[in-house]
Amino acid sequence: MSKSNTQKAIEWFDYRLPIFSFMKHSAVEYPTPKNLSYMWNFGSLAGIALVLQILTGIFLAMHYKPDVNLAFDSIQHIMRDVNSGWLIRNMHMVGASFFFIVVYIHMARGMYYGSYKGPREVLWWMGVIIFFLMMATAFMGYVLPWGQMSFWGATVITNLLSVIPFVGEHVVIWLWGGYSVGDATLNRFFSLHYLLPFVIFAVVFLHLWALHTHKSNNPVGIDLKKDTDFIPFHPYYTIKDIFGLGVYLIPFTFMVCYAPEYLGHPDNYIPADPMVTPAHIVPEWYFLPFYAILRAVPDKLFGVIAMVAAIAILFVLPWLDSSKVRSARFRPLFRPLLILFFANMFVLGWVGAKPPEGIYITIGRLATFYHFAFFLILPLVGMFEKPKPVPKSL
Ligand code: HEM
Repeated sequence: MSKSNTQKAIEWFDYRLPIFSFMKHSAVEYPTPKNLSYMWNFGSLAGIALVLQILTGIFLAMHYKPDVNLAFDSIQHIMRDVNSGWLIRNMHMVGASFFFIVVYIHMARGMYYGSYKGPREVLWWMGVIIFFLMMATAFMGYVLPWGQMSFWGATVITNLLSVIPFVGEHVVIWLWGGYSVGDATLNRFFSLHYLLPFVIFAVVFLHLWALHTHKSNNPVGIDLKKDTDFIPFHPYYTIKDIFGLGVYLIPFTFMVCYAPEYLGHPDNYIPADPMVTPAHIVPEWYFLPFYAILRAVPDKLFGVIAMVAAIAILFVLPWLDSSKVRSARFRPLFRPLLILFFANMFVLGWVGAKPPEGIYITIGRLATFYHFAFFLILPLVGMFEKPKPVPKSL
């Protein structure tokens, strides 16, 4: 059969810049383990969530004004006057929460199936870097509507840097661009909030490069050697990812249309007022576990260190976990400890939303203790655990 003109044009182009071969290799023929469960849908969902945030963000930026006198009203203008502005804003707002839900599940999946273990350590590191970048982006994004929580959240969190010995105060003033959170702060946060998602995008590229170098892990967690253990990514996983997206869009669309404020805080509909401090300053839900850790430590400096360490410890997880077996399915000791770790995250999140008083302090401290204890006992768990028999092949 003779080639069509389109085919000829593609070949001509591909010979000079092999972008089509690259796509065919990495998204069509790419050998994927045949036993992946729905837990492996969350990577592609995270990618789609990121792209949705970037797209809706670009349209919001066309109408948003990063000026302390105009920011709050410009959001109202988007909600009321801009065509479909309410839809774009609600998608961006709900999208941020859904992005975190997806990424939290994606990370939990990685921990459960030991996907952080060799040779996927760098893939895991890229993930942890993405997570830090996501948190920075979300934090700055929340400041932009310039409501009470925007202002006071920004004030409390940026003030944490003042604990850095000797230079802390100077660092905070430098970050604010003045002597309090103000117009300069709002401007630079807007600039960085626009920039960082593209940095995340670049790190996701490295994340996927590392993934494609050693291929996906799988629910059994064993190294796959035979060709028959793999199936091509297309059509098997393209169709599965599209199905996953369909399921994701049901609660997402529901929240966007019927409950966009459900995960937000009503105080952020009061314009920022530096003279009135809200009764409780609470961050967005996805920061609450780490906020709880910050407050569990009585000393401010060590509280900040603990909060950062609570996430940064993930960098060394591949070395803390000394077991040769990847999947928690075959690890009778690791599995319950990990499930308790996940449950503990919810406890931390719950405590993070409560005022730091009475019983909440005690629960917060116990939960913080377990958060770190889980990681620190992993070398011993690997040593003493007797794994169940692991199958040699699929
Ligand atoms: C923007 C955020 C992210 C995107 C778009 C993303 C994307 C992906 C994709 C498409 C995959 C392959 C499909 C899958 O295994 O689900 C993947 C795998 C993986 N990701 Fe992510 N990821 C993100 C964040 C993270 C984070 C925060 C971590 C951990 C801290 C992480 C750790 C991993 C690991 C360990 C794998 C390999 C899983 C396996 O093969 O079993 N990712 N990621």
